[in-house]
Amino acid sequence: MASIDQTLLIALKGYAWLPDLRRRTNGRPVAIRVMGQRAVAIGGPEAARFFYGDGNLERHTALPHPVVATLFGRGAVHTLDGPAHRHRKAMFVDLLTGDGIDRLAELAEEEFEVAARRWRGGPEISLFDETAGIIATAVTRWTGVPETQSDPEALPADLIAMVDGFATLGPRHARALAARRRRERWLAGIIENVRREQSTRSPLTSIAHYSEDGRLLDSRTAAVEVLNIIRPATAVTWLVAFAAHALDQWPHLRGELHRDEYARAFAHEVRRFYPFAPFLGGRATRDLRFQGVDIPAGALVLLDVYGQHHDERIWPEPYAFRPERFLGRPIGEFELIPQGGGDPRTGHRCPGEQITIALLATLAQRLAALDYYLPPQRTGIDLSRIPARPRDGIRIVVPVPVRTPSRSPGPGRR
Ligand code: HEM
Repeated sequence: MASIDQTLLIALKGYAWLPDLRRRTNGRPVAIRVMGQRAVAIGGPEAARFFYGDGNLERHTALPHPVVATLFGRGAVHTLDGPAHRHRKAMFVDLLTGDGIDRLAELAEEEFEVAARRWRGGPEISLFDETAGIIATAVTRWTGVPETQSDPEALPADLIAMVDGFATLGPRHARALAARRRRERWLAGIIENVRREQSTRSPLTSIAHYSEDGRLLDSRTAAVEVLNIIRPATAVTWLVAFAAHALDQWPHLRGELHRDEYARAFAHEVRRFYPFAPFLGGRATRDLRFQGVDIPAGALVLLDVYGQHHDERIWPEPYAFRPERFLGRPIGEFELIPQGGGDPRTGHRCPGEQITIALLATLAQRLAALDYYLPPQRTGIDLSRIPARPRDGIRIVVPVPVRTPSRSPGPGRR
């Protein structure tokens, strides 16, 4: 087992940390130490299958406190195991995988059109910040949070802050903690109102009235779970910024995006190619063995998400951006894992994956159809920063369309 603790290297190398380690062993499991604990790093579809294998790993002892305190919230579904997890997860799967997905994409599309009218002929805007506003407004409305109480100015920035600050202990982390405190308090009040009043059915009311062992969630935990819809949906902003980055790098793709099937393949390629979740962690519940390496009970197991998506044994030419690789074929349960692998109903795989794909494909289509340009700026992506994003957030200018004077038809064509 390697003796140096790797924790500092995560901070220094970011997304490159685990792939670099695993390259040294040709992709085989690597025994390491992180946060003073024994750990084994694994990657590849077989590793993902093992990671999600029934009862192999648990989460509640594996998630670092700073991540729970910012990204997920105390008592969130992410932190549960066994029957408690299955029960709460069923509610999320029910809320997030039905007909409502198209409605949410429509709401986001409407918000995009309203914003695009405002951008036209105006000064340059930050596509990242504007997209956060667009999605936060759409998802808040979709979730059923009363509009008068949604605080449209400050909410998107708070939701973004919770994601932006989960992997650092500096000022971004402090902003994330403050944003979470503010938003949990605010939503707990709304949950209490919903419980007192009759209101139309929505994800908000479902969470407010959801019970475990005959008891409602306390209002703070219910608020945490409402945030676990509106916060990650707003995080799709990162993917939209990456989509704009891809359209800037490979402008010929714009012409293809009007086809819905292509737009979905494009969304998958954005999720594979660009960095978001670097790796996932769980703790071995018993002595395990994977690909000849012993994993003692209590050791951490880290699944290398970014490395798996850039492994040429799985993806030919992994550093080429090619949506075509996802056209006309099903995707394996453990092959593309930006939001986890396996069955979302039984394991921890993200229940918001269909929503993510719908929002990303729709907004990428709107962007491809918009006439805009990028003024000089830094579009590079620093892979040591988690979560990464194009340095200047993709600033765009949307010019007023040039009107060609309408010509009256010539006499012979009347
Ligand atoms: C930017 C897009 C998104 C990314 C990259 C993402 C990524 C992830 C990842 C990596 C996990 C953990 C998987 C695991 O631990 O095994 C997860 C879980 C989860 N995600 Fe997402 N997600 C996204 C969007 C969404 C959306 C749109 C929603 C809801 C509307 C959502 C709700 C959740 C919930 C509730 C869980 C907890 C599942 C559980 O622990 O069983 N996510 N997501």
